[in-house]
Amino acid sequence: MRTPFVAGNWKLNKTPDEAETLARCVVDAVSGVTDVDVAICPPFTALERVSSVVCCTGVGLGAQNMYWEAEGAFTGEVSAPMLLTCGCEYVILGHSERRQFFGETDDTVNRRLKAALSADLKPIVCIGESFDERQANVTEQVVETQTRGALDGISAEDAQGITLAYEPVWAIGTGLTATPEQAEAVHAFLRRVLAQIYDEDVAQGIRIQYGGSVKPDNAAELFQQDNIDGGLIGGASLEADDFAAIVKAAI
Ligand code: PGA
Repeated sequence: MRTPFVAGNWKLNKTPDEAETLARCVVDAVSGVTDVDVAICPPFTALERVSSVVCCTGVGLGAQNMYWEAEGAFTGEVSAPMLLTCGCEYVILGHSERRQFFGETDDTVNRRLKAALSADLKPIVCIGESFDERQANVTEQVVETQTRGALDGISAEDAQGITLAYEPVWAIGTGLTATPEQAEAVHAFLRRVLAQIYDEDVAQGIRIQYGGSVKPDNAAELFQQDNIDGGLIGGASLEADDFAAIVKAAI
C-alpha cells in the first residue's frame, strides 16, 4: 500500500564532476527496479549537473536543505524556487546534522516544511533521538515533540506528501544500527502519533524511512518491518552498488 522510498543523502561530498559520475552509476545500477521510489540528494553545487543525468530515468533528485523565504537578503541561503529550477523534486529537512551543527530547531524545520510544501517540493523530514536521550528512556517523547513541532499547522492533505525519516542520532555514520525491532518500535509509535494528529487513514499513508548506518547487509531486515517504508542512506549511498543493493532490499 505504501510504496517504499529509498533516498541517498550525499552530505558534504562530491564535486560536480564526481557527482555526475556517481549519478550515472546509480542510474545504471537501479535501472529496471520498479515498485521502489528512489532519489539522490547531492550538495547544492552539483544539483544541476545531476539533474541532467537523472532526468526521465525514474531516479528523483533532492536537496539537503532549503530556506523558507523565496528570495532576499539572506546570505548563504537557497530557496525552494531555486531548488525547483535545478530540477529538484525532494528536499531533506531537519537532518540531525543541521540541528546539531547549524542550530535548527523544530520551529525552523516547520517553517522550511511549510515553504517546501507550498512550492510543491516533496519533503523528507528527519527526526531522531540522541544516544543520551535513548539511555534516559525518552526516545518517544523526543520523536513525538519533533514530529508535532515539524507538522504544526500542516493540513492532513499536505501531510500525505511528506516522508518522515526516523534517524537515531547515535546510529548515523557510526556503524551502529538500530535493531529491526528497536526501529520498528519507534516507527509504529510514530504512526500512532500521526494518527492522533490527523487520523488513521492519513497515518497509514505517510511513509516513514529509517536512517542510520543502513548497509546492504542489514537493509532487508529493517525494510521488512511493517512500519519501515525504506531508508535515508548516508555513507552507503556514495557507492552505487551498495546503494542499489539497498534499493533492491526494499522491493
Ligand atoms: P549514514 O547516514 O547512513 O551514513 O549513517 C544517514 C543519514 O545521516 O541520513
